[in-house]
Amino acid sequence: MTASAPRRVAYDVLRAVNESDAYANLLLPTSIERARLTTADAALATELTYGTLRRQGTYDAVISIAADRPVQEIDPAVLDALRLGVHQLLSTRVASHAAVNESVELAREGGRAASGFVNAVLRRISRDTPGDWMTRVEDSARSDDERLGLVYSHPVWVVRAFRRALAAEGRTDELEALLTADNASPRVTMAALPGLGEVPEEARRTPYSPLGFRLGGGDPESLVSGSDGRVRVQDEGSQLAALALTRAEPVRAGERWLDLCAGPGGKTAVLAAEALAGGASLEANEVSPARAGLVRRAIEGVPLDVPVSEADGRVRASESPDMYDRILVDAPCTGLGALRRRPEARWRKSPADVPSLTELQTELLSAAVVALKPGGIVAYVTCSPHLAETSGVVSEVRRSFGSSLEELDARAVLTEISSTDPRLPDQADGSKRAQLWPHRHNTDAMSISLLRKL
Ligand SMILES: C[S@@+](CC[C@H](N)C(=O)[O-])C[C@H]1O[C@@H](n2cnc3c(N)ncnc32)[C@H](O)[C@@H]1O
Repeated sequence: MTASAPRRVAYDVLRAVNESDAYANLLLPTSIERARLTTADAALATELTYGTLRRQGTYDAVISIAADRPVQEIDPAVLDALRLGVHQLLSTRVASHAAVNESVELAREGGRAASGFVNAVLRRISRDTPGDWMTRVEDSARSDDERLGLVYSHPVWVVRAFRRALAAEGRTDELEALLTADNASPRVTMAALPGLGEVPEEARRTPYSPLGFRLGGGDPESLVSGSDGRVRVQDEGSQLAALALTRAEPVRAGERWLDLCAGPGGKTAVLAAEALAGGASLEANEVSPARAGLVRRAIEGVPLDVPVSEADGRVRASESPDMYDRILVDAPCTGLGALRRRPEARWRKSPADVPSLTELQTELLSAAVVALKPGGIVAYVTCSPHLAETSGVVSEVRRSFGSSLEELDARAVLTEISSTDPRLPDQADGSKRAQLWPHRHNTDAMSISLLRKL
């Protein structure tokens, strides 16, 4: 017997993600195409890959108990076969014998001992219910955050960062709802560029962004490709982040705008459509040449000339003092707010990444302030709710610019833009920052701050 094609595809993608830092969302579609999977098999391969990667932390705890050894002592290729097997046993309706046998086949490449080990561990797991295993996993935790981390498959440092960010809104009771939301696949959200794209009649409007909609059925990809880029797949929080800048106050014709960290260009497209409608001009910048190329493609459908530079945003902005009326700094960040859409992301970052990112974020935002005209507005955006990356960076920049910076009320701006009140609570630091959440708004956890140069 050989492993079925969907499981083979899922296993190969898991191996590439865990061994060579591949991105599942990029690799999986090409692997599915190469294996010529039917639509049903492609859906199964996707569920197996994403489900296993998301729940990897929980499954590793189960495997460690059942194998009676730390997972670090298990050969990585064997461990991935075990993870795939545990996912099928504990979280799908796949029959136990099929789940066990298929993972044994995948591990057979590793030799007879490996397949015997996989067989023994998975049979042991299959003898008890998912509930029994969750109880054992919970009992193995040494603290409440570790328990949440194991049960909801998040690294403990991420659980702590979320707890602090929710505490800043007095909402720590929402922590489990947030962790649960991160483990569900988000529905595809789309945006029709203002004044250019059309929302299909049968689509349902999203509650907050005036550009957003979801299809009841149908293929988002064919809608996107048939629209010349004027209809796009875009998280509703990302739409709101761009609109927070363009609609913070009425646009005066002739304004100059800059998108400082633009790749791959989703928000640039919204800015470009808004600039076109308001008679403003837009420039974009991205440090990575490959991603700058994606920005150029993203704005092809907007009839506005948008020069795209390829430079370090810190240099690009500090060399253009007092030049722009509005600047978007959608900063490189830990991405902890987009875990729903990037199944492996939670295992990639570590707390050690945070200080260098906050330093870069602070420098990018400071350079953007220099590049603003007096009276100009900068939107500082992260797809992370980590307080060091959000309120920490903004407070640091406000401290260094003193009374020459004023914070605008980003929560009021978003409430004004939205057709449904997003009910954004006050922040403990007294700032007017807007924080969106997957469990509350069904968006990525985007943080949006608006600052005006005086
Ligand atoms: C969060 S992403 C921006 C997403 C984009 N605004 C969109 O909506 O599609 C951050 C971008 O900043 C870029 N970046 C990283 N360091 C930078 C720097 N020093 N200057 C300019 N861009 C930088 C990254 O390559 C990445 O494309």
